[in-house]
Amino acid sequence: MSEMVNLTINGKKYTAEKGSMVLKVARDHGIRIPTLCDHEGIEPFGACRLCIVEVTHGNRTRIVTSCLYPVEEGLVVQTDSPRIIRNRKMLLDLLLARCSENKVIKELAAEYGLQKPSFREEYWEKHDCIVCGLCVRACEQVVGVSAISLVNRGVSKEPKPPYLEKATACIGCGSCYYVCPTGAVKMEEKNGVRYIYNWNVAFKLKKCAKCGIEWAPEAQLEYIRKKWNLEKGFFDLCPNCR
Ligand code: FES
Repeated sequence: MSEMVNLTINGKKYTAEKGSMVLKVARDHGIRIPTLCDHEGIEPFGACRLCIVEVTHGNRTRIVTSCLYPVEEGLVVQTDSPRIIRNRKMLLDLLLARCSENKVIKELAAEYGLQKPSFREEYWEKHDCIVCGLCVRACEQVVGVSAISLVNRGVSKEPKPPYLEKATACIGCGSCYYVCPTGAVKMEEKNGVRYIYNWNVAFKLKKCAKCGIEWAPEAQLEYIRKKWNLEKGFFDLCPNCR
């Protein structure tokens, strides 16, 4: 049986499995901590820093990212202390300056009273990507393909296909699109083809032999078929017709 620990979050006592992350424990008890780079099923990475909380253990209080901080016996957590609110607001101010027209970032920033970045307008940018790397991690950890990676350093860092050309290993599954917290991955389907513009790729969609619906990229289905050793023609029918 797993070991349990006692901790306090925002003045209330809880019991949690030792080693589980503060963010998960808080969420399991309905306590909201804002996040951008966290996704169920993908290893936490601590990129966005929005999930910061104050933790006190013994005499020591410090700020940590709750997605990466494991609970321990006697831990005291504050998710919305004045210090946390101040720091989160500063982080959102920076994100808003980078993504000044992004809907998700604007809404989050507004929650903290920021209608526009506090920086001079010449420093405002119009990116959608916050470089959290979720797309890269999903591709690597969930799909097992590693078709894209984070390239460059510092402010030039961004997710890109190899040699900034085309993600030749991409199977078109769209995991990167589905996990992106800010809608920075642009994917579209038209005329039987799925395009993922960020990685310069296009995939023919498989047509169901019965109902004719175009339901998934052929490359993705072939990847799954081979991986699971399924017979040829296994995916001729869509899930509804099978
Ligand atoms: S959710 Fe913890 S750093 Fe982004």
